[in-house]
Amino acid sequence: MKVLGIETSCDETSAAIIDYNRGRFKILGEVINSQIALHRKTGGVVPEVAAREHVKNIIPVITLAFQKAGLSINDIDRIGVVSGPGLITSLLTGVETAKHLAFLSQKKIFAINHIEAHLAANYLLNKKINYPALGLIVSGGHTEIVLITEAGSYKLIGATRDDAAGECFDKCAKILRLPYPGGPEISRHAEKGTANISFPKPMINAKNFDFSFSGLKTSVLYYVRDHKKYNTDAACASIQQSIVDVLVHKLSLAQNKFNAKTIMLAGGVAANLKLRQAMKKQFQNILIPDLQYCTDNGVMVATATALKTKADNIFKIKADPSWEII
Ligand code: KG4
Ligand code: ZN
Repeated sequence: MKVLGIETSCDETSAAIIDYNRGRFKILGEVINSQIALHRKTGGVVPEVAAREHVKNIIPVITLAFQKAGLSINDIDRIGVVSGPGLITSLLTGVETAKHLAFLSQKKIFAINHIEAHLAANYLLNKKINYPALGLIVSGGHTEIVLITEAGSYKLIGATRDDAAGECFDKCAKILRLPYPGGPEISRHAEKGTANISFPKPMINAKNFDFSFSGLKTSVLYYVRDHKKYNTDAACASIQQSIVDVLVHKLSLAQNKFNAKTIMLAGGVAANLKLRQAMKKQFQNILIPDLQYCTDNGVMVATATALKTKADNIFKIKADPSWEII
């Protein structure tokens, strides 16, 4: 089965074509147009600016993905598009483009949840996934632990009560006057520093699977206010250490309780090298997507689409900025 996946939920316009055959995934063509350089000027995503870029880039991105795959729309069996969660003005471009394409080509269309797509990046590894599985989704907008009883069936085990892990990276980076997006910047500085500042590890001792990262951000704010000559590398290493420790600890708690056969990491923060190392050390049964499929991309959308059993009604699909999978 050949699948076109489209992603425009935030600041990446992406399209990919994959082949799914006998349980194995193969990437045939993929394109990501990132708006990072543009949003760096404003220190974050300005929704209207992102929306205009998506409108400008969506057709060239899809066209190039087909060229790379050496295929045309006629060769496609399914079209999948992220319809939420995300920025409404960004989502609209992907959703309406996908609907037009599906309508004109009479192909099946699937509305894909962005979080489910992040998790699907693990299926791309073509490794056996045993259930029940646990998923930790760590992105700019989400920090969630989900129990996955079978592909497509999720139960929410724990979530952040305030900021998401990626949001914490981004906000701490802003406090340290580092450019957008903060996660990769903090990670880069952390490589050169020692984690010798004791920032809080919020809720690490709470006997539940919830998270809270806004207190960590506040303590970084106070630290910077009170230490005029702080060491950026050490601050970054310490922030990263706090976040990684909390994530690993909470996932271990969940693993002890649910005895999951496979653990999956997903979302932009899963690109963090320290987190990847720590997770691999802690869990033998963990899957982590390849680096380039942790942050937003069309390949993960196509993968999630291939795993679906029932197509959606084209006239009922609409962008839903607050769509939760559970
Ligand atoms: O999944 P994603 O691309 O978009 C959302 O769905 O939100 O995640 C973006 C988030 C941002 O907060 C970004 O700072 C973070 O992932 N991120 C990282 C790294 N790369 C991206 N955080 C820590 N270390 C990284 N290397
Ligand atoms: Zn994402």
